[in-house]
Amino acid sequence: MRMIRFIWAEDEDGHIGYQGTLPWHLPADLKHFKDLTSNHIIVMGRRTFESFPGLLPKRQHIILSTSPTLQRKYQNNAHVKIFSQLKELKNWIKDHSEQTIDIIGGARVFEEFMDEVDMIEKTKIHHVFKGDTLMPKINYEDFELINTKAHQADEKNKFAYDFLEYERKEK
Ligand SMILES: NC(=O)c1ccc[n+]([C@@H]2O[C@H](COP(=O)([O-])OP(=O)(O)OC[C@H]3O[C@@H](n4cnc5c(N)ncnc54)[C@H](OP(=O)(O)O)[C@@H]3O)[C@@H](O)[C@H]2O)c1
Repeated sequence: MRMIRFIWAEDEDGHIGYQGTLPWHLPADLKHFKDLTSNHIIVMGRRTFESFPGLLPKRQHIILSTSPTLQRKYQNNAHVKIFSQLKELKNWIKDHSEQTIDIIGGARVFEEFMDEVDMIEKTKIHHVFKGDTLMPKINYEDFELINTKAHQADEKNKFAYDFLEYERKEK
């Protein structure tokens, strides 16, 4: 059965981005993201796509963008599909009903799937960073927290962080 999952990391203020990139350096969260998304379909906005150094291995990239240049650049690449219309993307997702769809941001893309998300994989970073992009509001009363993993800061990861997993409650 299809599942739509949000995956993101936020700081204590709910910031997810700053100047087109992540506000923090947290290798453990990058690994967590890789483990969660490997072999999945990842859906993102154009700015999030541009924040990566390149294509992420073992993942199919689905990008929302109105840019014809981006469309042309990837038109023959089997690992990338670009939609300029949200409606077309939603129809495409319906046709892939057997797969997990990982929505990985940014803010506008999370907003656009807020009513459809079944699962949440959130990393809460216990620090306040300078940010310009906020995670949109989630109605946590609609979700049940099913898993928590707390991590202390260490040599490589300078901030404490929690991996939190939520499931949408039965309606
Ligand atoms: N901490 C995290 O987990 C996390 C996750 C994701 C992103 N981020 C950060 O957040 C920032 C980027 O996020 P963002 O919110 O600024 O941008 P974004 O959502 O990644 O991208 C916005 C762009 O996506 C396209 N788009 C979105 N909705 C669309 C629609 N309905 N139809 C057509 N195109 C649509 C548009 O591209 P065009 O302008 O090309 O039309 C729009 O300008 C970066 O700093 C990034 O590092 C952080």
